[in-house]
Amino acid sequence: MKPQKRYKVTFLPEGKQTEAAKGLSLLEAARRAGVKLATRCGGKAGCLMCKVRVDAQEAGAVKPPGDAERRKLGSQLDEGVRLACQAEVWGDVRVTVPEDPLKAAVRRRLEEARREREDELW
Ligand code: FES
Repeated sequence: MKPQKRYKVTFLPEGKQTEAAKGLSLLEAARRAGVKLATRCGGKAGCLMCKVRVDAQEAGAVKPPGDAERRKLGSQLDEGVRLACQAEVWGDVRVTVPEDPLKAAVRRRLEEARREREDELW
């Protein structure tokens, strides 16, 4: 039996990688790479918590969105947003994982505090 071709899946911004056979979901690939993606629906396109981004140049490296993903994401698909639980690996691909909203809020607040301190010094 011929071994199945494996594709390189890279998760940005961390740069973590894994190899995946065609058809593996980006959600499962993320788990294998040690990248945490939030889910609440168990991968059924219900919670929209597993959103990731795939650049337009690499859109062909993932399976085109099906009906459920199209319904859920609408125009966000045009911006490269995909549901990791629905998008399947079809080739080498780089996937951008959005920053956790809570972490992003903390980071923004820390940056504001740092700017305020710098302003006080001047
Ligand atoms: S895991 Fe819930 S939409 Fe993907």
